[in-house]
Amino acid sequence: MSEPKPDHILQVGLGFWASKTLLSAVEMELFTELARHPEDLETLQGRLGLHPRSARDFFDALVALKFLERRDGRYFNTPSTDFFLDKRKPSYVGGILEMANQRLYPFWGHLTTALRTGLPQNESKDGGPNPFVALYADPARLEQFLQAMTGISHGSNLAIARQLPWSKYTTAVDVGTAQGDLITQVALANPHIQGIGFDLAEVGPIFEEYVEHNGLSGRVKFQAGSFFDQPLPKADVVLMGHILHDWNLEVKQMLVRKAYEALPQGGAFVAYESIIDDDRSSNAFGLLMSLNMLVETPGGFDYTGADCAGWMKEAGFRETRVQHLIGPDSMVIGIK
Ligand SMILES: C[S@@+](CC[C@H](N)C(=O)[O-])C[C@H]1O[C@@H](n2cnc3c(N)ncnc32)[C@H](O)[C@@H]1O
Repeated sequence: MSEPKPDHILQVGLGFWASKTLLSAVEMELFTELARHPEDLETLQGRLGLHPRSARDFFDALVALKFLERRDGRYFNTPSTDFFLDKRKPSYVGGILEMANQRLYPFWGHLTTALRTGLPQNESKDGGPNPFVALYADPARLEQFLQAMTGISHGSNLAIARQLPWSKYTTAVDVGTAQGDLITQVALANPHIQGIGFDLAEVGPIFEEYVEHNGLSGRVKFQAGSFFDQPLPKADVVLMGHILHDWNLEVKQMLVRKAYEALPQGGAFVAYESIIDDDRSSNAFGLLMSLNMLVETPGGFDYTGADCAGWMKEAGFRETRVQHLIGPDSMVIGIK
């Protein structure tokens, strides 16, 4: 038996120090500033408007955390922070960290209340069954949320665009498409695919701007609607990224049934997110994401591949499989 050690306990218990240091750096656009050119301490302190008491410890903590490098008294981005946290690059993934800083960080301060009451702790805290109504009431929050979704989903979207046997299909609908990165990556990697992004009407202009920016306006269209009120658009492939986990079991099963109805025989339904391992003991990110759904939604939860395959079988899918994407993400595929 290995000797008990406090290291892991203390590292996780005080993990918010490192987390908030990175989130503040993203908030102040430190990495975007350093992507322009490396800076020395005084210049960087002035650019970011930091107090002299804080600046050196802040930058050096980021060096020790491996988000910055320091050479000859000047601070540089690492290759990863330069690629993923420079706001001017298309590879920027900081949207999710901006949202984590502004929204999730304060909401998670009420985790104990959520654990005891089972109630969300975000904008919809004081009632309302639909978390998106409260979130989308403020256009700035709407845009930030949709960009955040692109940040957290982009790596898996690229993997889906490569991993599915797309040559078998000609049309795809991405349900709850947000900014549209999944259907965009699918269409970019598979020039024969015609795509639809389906989402609430408020999302349309932000989707259309993103699709146009990627040169896909001819092949990828927005369809406004709510999956509560209408059938899903018909297509050979129905995609749902981070949708099922937003809702309670009843809505999850309703969405799986609607996906089935939208497909032809042989069509594929793909549900993806941080699918929890069937033993519920190793995908910590997936389990923490499920707690995030507790904080953010009235009934949402994340689920295992076996759970989802079960709902697919109940809806009539003849074949199901779970396929790993990247990091904690997997997709569950159901074939009609
Ligand atoms: C958690 S986000 C996931 C976004 C994206 N699929 C991804 O994986 O990055 C949930 C999406 O579902 C959309 N949504 C919420 N309620 C909806 C409804 N009733 N009908 C259609 N879309 C809805 C939201 O607008 C949002 O874009």
